[in-house]
Amino acid sequence: NTTPLKLSVIGCGYLGAVHAASMAELGHEVVGIEVDVAKAESLAAGRVPFFEPGFEELLRRSLDSGRLSFSSDMADARGAAAHFVCVGTPQRRGEYAADLTYVEAATASLIEVLGPGELVVGKSTVPVGTAARLAEQVAARVPGAALAWNPEFLREGYAVQDTLHPDRLVYGVPSLSGADTAVDAEKVLDTVYARIVADGTPKVVTDYATAEMVKTAANSFLATKISFINAMAELCEATGADVKQLADAIGHDDRIGRKFLNAGLGFGGGCLPKDIRAFMARAGELGADQALTFLREVDNINMRRRIRMVELARQVCDDSLLGKRIAVLGAAFKPDSDDIRDSPALNVAAQLQLQGANVRVTDPQALPNVRRHWSQLDCVDTPEEAAEGADAVLLLTEWKQYRELDPGSFGKVVKTRRVLDGRNALDREAWESAGWTYRALGRRNV
Ligand code: UDX
Repeated sequence: NTTPLKLSVIGCGYLGAVHAASMAELGHEVVGIEVDVAKAESLAAGRVPFFEPGFEELLRRSLDSGRLSFSSDMADARGAAAHFVCVGTPQRRGEYAADLTYVEAATASLIEVLGPGELVVGKSTVPVGTAARLAEQVAARVPGAALAWNPEFLREGYAVQDTLHPDRLVYGVPSLSGADTAVDAEKVLDTVYARIVADGTPKVVTDYATAEMVKTAANSFLATKISFINAMAELCEATGADVKQLADAIGHDDRIGRKFLNAGLGFGGGCLPKDIRAFMARAGELGADQALTFLREVDNINMRRRIRMVELARQVCDDSLLGKRIAVLGAAFKPDSDDIRDSPALNVAAQLQLQGANVRVTDPQALPNVRRHWSQLDCVDTPEEAAEGADAVLLLTEWKQYRELDPGSFGKVVKTRRVLDGRNALDREAWESAGWTYRALGRRNV
């Protein structure tokens, strides 16, 4: 049974909007504070400014319950028992380190309305050491208030499920971080997450530094796992072995596990690439850079996959991309998302274009973002339009509708039946029996 609390969520981007609506779903009274007035108004009207399966329903349900509201005025956060800081920490331009401008600005303006007995809860991904520094600012300015760190692990495309049914809860609390506060942070967070705690969700209560590191360590491990299998893919290509069967076989060992062993174009998005880079930068500041030099290699392996994909495209197009028509299926960094931040697909599309190919990009959700940020790329609405008269088709983001294309009828629109499977997601046999030349990363390419 949930004891309803008043909560505020500062920053209603992807993470904050989902968190705010999910907390209202748990029974709390939530105000989302968003400085971008247009975004706040859109959310308040039940319109989601990004694509996330299931989120619009949750947002509308929470708004209809009367427990969720949005505002651009920080004063509306006044009196909340817990204030969740959910602003972004992007990579700094031209550097590896994270840009903490938004976290610092949000905390500073929150402190102006913060009252004693209230808890500031950091959810953004930050360099280790940030929480301790912010906690000092809170304690100095608002005696009786406290800060906790509570990292978020949601995946795009599964954000609602990951927020309401997380694998674990992690609390970095003041009492274990050498800070003496009147607020029992663990108790407040247990009240916030009462229903999730009651589900038996594992909980780790720890100090700030560990809580901050859990997030970056988890993302570094995931990135490493992907780059590991992509390194194996490079070897498979050199030896004629098959990386998909290799992944299946090693994945049966449950110490290894099959998840996140899908070889292909590698990782992109707003988290994994920037998080491993920020982690390396922070390790350097702490004098521990040697501990993370392997992450540089993880990043290199990942970036090499994009170059290899372009090479493979050139090879199948009779060793020249000049004037070749190439269909690119997928622009988002992964399926079920319209996010194009550091998208491997767009990076490949742009390289092909630079090498003189005539590229047409399609994606079920991300085209508005592509048109906004990559105006040099030619976008079309359907895979058939993209493939019209094509010399080669590249699958770069494995949307279900592309995996389910019928190679027979799809083959009628292209000039030459050549397909490059950048995500090892197509049924090779089906495409080959329909007369396609099939090429993929990490597979027999003969
Ligand atoms: C990730 C973490 O999974 C999540 O826990 C954290 O909170 C935020 O960062 P997300 O960026 O949404 O989530 O995407 P994820 O599903 O992890 O995929 C990341 C990238 O890795 C995608 O580009 C995906 O295509 C790629 N990937 C994933 C692979 O190339 N192979 C795999 O086996 C798995």
